[in-house]
Amino acid sequence: MAERPTVWLNCAASLDGKLASPDGEPMVLSDDADWHRVHRLRSETDAILVGVGTILKDNPSLTVKDAFAPASPTRKLLRVVLDAKGRTPQKARVVDGYAPTLIVTAPGVTKEWAKAERAEVAVDAQGHLDLEAMLVLLRRRGVRRLLVEGGAGVLRSFLDSGFVDRWTCYVAPVLVGGNGPSLFDGRPSSIGRRLHVENVQAAGKGVLWTFRP
Ligand SMILES: NC(=O)c1ccc[n+]([C@@H]2O[C@H](COP(=O)([O-])OP(=O)(O)OC[C@H]3O[C@@H](n4cnc5c(N)ncnc54)[C@H](OP(=O)(O)O)[C@@H]3O)[C@@H](O)[C@H]2O)c1
Repeated sequence: MAERPTVWLNCAASLDGKLASPDGEPMVLSDDADWHRVHRLRSETDAILVGVGTILKDNPSLTVKDAFAPASPTRKLLRVVLDAKGRTPQKARVVDGYAPTLIVTAPGVTKEWAKAERAEVAVDAQGHLDLEAMLVLLRRRGVRRLLVEGGAGVLRSFLDSGFVDRWTCYVAPVLVGGNGPSLFDGRPSSIGRRLHVENVQAAGKGVLWTFRP
């Protein structure tokens, strides 16, 4: 494959692998110490990526918050959204113009956003954007380090893709239950999969796992 950015996945999960509440509404899983870690991580990367499901549910701004990363208060990362059909709302925070944003869609989408750029990549048989093509596109635009923050579908796609260099997962001491967004959906590719553990450490009341998939 052509050159791609280094890909770092980061997420926060409950003890039972849930990423949000059973109805998919965002849930605070990270504690303050973990938020500091995440914002430091953001401040050291070139671009941060989520799927359109996260935009629709959480409406994140995907910026580096001054309070969490005072060393780089003005750092404005490229914000990237995987959005094959162009469902990102015009009023979403990610297209507010505060920092550069790239909405990646399938070919033929005509929607445009006043304060965000759009780029096209091919889709696979499931209608998912081709991650390899998207990574090559980002690298050509100067992205050397990419932080992927979710949500569930995007994390699973990346883990299945083999394009992940490192994965940090903060596991909070909480059980969520239900059938909400989860790291593990029981697909054959995720069943019984073993990961190489690079580090495991207590972090606040939770545990931070670092894997090299
Ligand atoms: N705990 C955490 O760390 C964390 C972090 C972020 C989000 N979340 C939670 O995760 C949930 C959202 O997860 P989600 O699975 O619904 O949405 P998602 O992973 O944010 O986005 C999935 C959508 O992205 C689009 N997409 C395009 N190309 C893709 C590809 N190659 N692979 C996967 N998706 C692709 C698809 O929509 P189109 O077909 O329309 O393009 C797909 O439905 C929310 O409840 C949110 O609160 C948790």
